[in-house]
Amino acid sequence: MSTESKAERRSATRWYQAAYRLMYRVGFAKVWERAAPPAELVALVEGPDALPAGRALDLGCGIGIDTVYLTKHGWDVTGVDLTPQALAIARRTAASARVGPRFLEGDVSRLPDLDVGDGYSLLVDFGCYHTLPDDRRDAYVAGVSRAAAPGATLLLMGFRRAPKAMPIRAGMTVDEIRQRFGGAGWDLVEAEQRSVPDTRAPRRFRDHFEFWSYQLRRSPR
Ligand SMILES: C[S@@+](CC[C@H](N)C(=O)[O-])C[C@H]1O[C@@H](n2cnc3c(N)ncnc32)[C@H](O)[C@@H]1O
Repeated sequence: MSTESKAERRSATRWYQAAYRLMYRVGFAKVWERAAPPAELVALVEGPDALPAGRALDLGCGIGIDTVYLTKHGWDVTGVDLTPQALAIARRTAASARVGPRFLEGDVSRLPDLDVGDGYSLLVDFGCYHTLPDDRRDAYVAGVSRAAAPGATLLLMGFRRAPKAMPIRAGMTVDEIRQRFGGAGWDLVEAEQRSVPDTRAPRRFRDHFEFWSYQLRRSPR
């Protein structure tokens, strides 16, 4: 269990929990909804150097597109998300695909409280870490590092910086990722700017974002 008091936990979490709940409630979440997994994840799962299927953790899994994709490809997957509306859709999507990943409701920066376990050889974060408040990022890295198997791969995707008009702050730079994760035993093996994958948002909207994909490898212990 973390050493934070209940009050500290509530205040740190409240603003982004409320923001995400509101975005799902009013339908704004459709701007990031994808029908398919991102190409970077497909390459790791089906490409020429595909990883062997094992345990996978989908951090901020949203409506579960990537969780379901990984489960269908033989991975034992846990999806974590803070927003109940998103998880309800994710569970329905998994049921219609006739797969049974584990879904946990909770904060990805408090993984030890969620009993996620460990031994994950693939960790995926599409669009979650980049909106974590600065003061929750080290805790996220600690939790993710504890959950990861030696030699695990972490695929981290999101905005380097977001336009001012975005309802919540977002960002993650190469330097920040190298520094924060490097200190916890991760090597940054790839950092590339990509075009935002196809979502329901119009292309002209998506073009305003600097979208980056980072691939990190946990040192073999
Ligand atoms: C931009 S959406 C991406 C969802 C999904 N990964 C996808 O690509 O469709 C970000 C998701 O992260 C979740 N999220 C944000 N902060 C979180 C936190 N601290 N803990 C758990 N989930 C969080 C939100 O509820 C939301 O579903």
